[in-house]
Amino acid sequence: MIESEKSLLKNPTSGIRKFVSVNDVQDINALVQKALGYKADPFKNKHLGAGKRIGCLFLNPSMRTRLSTQIAAQNLGMDAIVFNVGQEGWALEFEEGAVMDGTSVEHVKDAAPVLGKFFDILAVRTFPSLKNRDDDYRELHMEQFIKYAGIPVVSLESATLHPLQSLADLITIKETLFNSPSIDKVKIVLSWAPHVKPLPQCVANSFAQWINAWGEANFVITHPPGYELDEQFTKGAIINTNQDDALKSADFVYVKNWSSYKDYGEILPNDENWMLTTTKLSVTNNAKVMHCLPVRRNVELSDEILDSKNSIVTQQAGNRVWAAQAMLDTLLT
Ligand code: CP
Repeated sequence: MIESEKSLLKNPTSGIRKFVSVNDVQDINALVQKALGYKADPFKNKHLGAGKRIGCLFLNPSMRTRLSTQIAAQNLGMDAIVFNVGQEGWALEFEEGAVMDGTSVEHVKDAAPVLGKFFDILAVRTFPSLKNRDDDYRELHMEQFIKYAGIPVVSLESATLHPLQSLADLITIKETLFNSPSIDKVKIVLSWAPHVKPLPQCVANSFAQWINAWGEANFVITHPPGYELDEQFTKGAIINTNQDDALKSADFVYVKNWSSYKDYGEILPNDENWMLTTTKLSVTNNAKVMHCLPVRRNVELSDEILDSKNSIVTQQAGNRVWAAQAMLDTLLT
């Protein structure tokens, strides 16, 4: 293994490694290459994780993240145990100094060190409350697991970010670009979509953070006024509230709903016509359309787009395995 591959995730001498955002990645392109190497040959390191165990804690539902992480671990010879904390475990308390006379039964500072004894890597999925922005954006749940587990912690989606989704997104973009040599500077548009429920900003924040950190795209974010994301993630992107204008000449359109960051967790009215259609897509460079899934058909994205050749959502979800495998390889190595 070459030195640049060994150091794909930062390994500060002061602490245990983690994977909770793009800031934990030393070399994004090398990590993508590692993932594509596993896509070409999934079992080439089938003993790398032998004798190791990953605990996957879900405080919320999941299909792709849960299964892709287990498959990735198995491909490396690693045991994966999934625990649905939200449904099967004791209700956890996360606040320091809490007087636990309510519904929570166990404090994370007692539970996480036990998990640190059971596992070699701890992977955690948690969502925001969408009620209190400050609480959500300080990432209390993930930070408490990092503080108390004593082993590497991986985010399977947190209150504000979804790093393994974003890595899979970038893998998908890069492998598509390999087959499109005519594209010089790729144009990627993140386009807000309508939804019936208030959703987290995690996927959009994370995608923006990764594409900005990657730095090789003309990156545009388009949304109706009022849906501005946190600038700490979007800085570097062009923000355009005119969707038709933003879509012009796009090579990739990433469609995603998020609730308002400013009016935190709110759905703002009058935005149904933001759903991407074939007519809207006609101004692009025959763009590939992405979505992290699950998707609400004919609310977020039309049937005509999802069932067309422009849609690469299944390829994108399939790449979740290789994203997880590249990340686990790097933590294990
Ligand atoms: N995209 C994604 O995270 O899917 P799941 O919620 O099914 O894990």
